[in-house]
Amino acid sequence: MIFTSDDLQRLDTRYRAAFANSLTGFKAANLVGSADADGNQNLAIMSSAVHLGSHPFLIGLVLRPSDARQHTLENILELRSYTLNHVHESFYQEAHQTAARYPRGVSEFVAVGLTAELVEGFPAPFIAEARIRLGLELREHHPLAINGTHLLIGEVVLVDVPDTNVAEDGSVDLGASGTVTISGLDCYHRVQQLGRLAYAKPDL
Ligand SMILES: Cc1cc2nc3c(=O)[nH]c(=O)nc-3n(C[C@H](O)[C@H](O)[C@H](O)COP(=O)(O)O)c2cc1C
Repeated sequence: MIFTSDDLQRLDTRYRAAFANSLTGFKAANLVGSADADGNQNLAIMSSAVHLGSHPFLIGLVLRPSDARQHTLENILELRSYTLNHVHESFYQEAHQTAARYPRGVSEFVAVGLTAELVEGFPAPFIAEARIRLGLELREHHPLAINGTHLLIGEVVLVDVPDTNVAEDGSVDLGASGTVTISGLDCYHRVQQLGRLAYAKPDL
């Protein structure tokens, strides 16, 4: 199938969303934990986390336009702290359910049955059941003029990862950690490693 720009413009809205969301490839599966100033906790699945740099350790997150009134966006802008919790294969269904639009007073932790865990001095909640958990502080917020989405840039200030899954060179075995990956808007996959390769150089 070939789609021209005109064909893409004419696609049904839901079809286009499913189609476009499939075509960037497999994506990171994270649950974003946040809270407001009154301590109301929120959890939302997000597949847009992207590595922006290691030193400082920065992660970008793209959030929907604010007319959708996302609690996650409001909370992060308010407290400037949030968590990324890798979706583990044992709770991918609960993770997906956090995408439902619950009213502000309802915590998705309670609604889907995941456990909120607080770490001293960090206002945003982590997920007790998650194996890999990151705490971030908001460093930059860029509303994107092209479509009203928001790019949030956070610095990682806390990392919790199983000792046994970190190799001597620092790489983390996500497969062994049970982290899943997402394709499209609703498909979750377990990963199978093909192999690790040497650092690429022209003469190697
Ligand atoms: C697989 C999947 C990936 C998603 N990724 C994102 C994302 O990267 N950014 C975003 O703003 N919303 C994303 N969403 C939608 C949010 O999870 C959804 O809008 C949620 O209701 C937001 O919750 P909140 O209002 O509590 O912040 C995704 C939904 C699904 C099912």
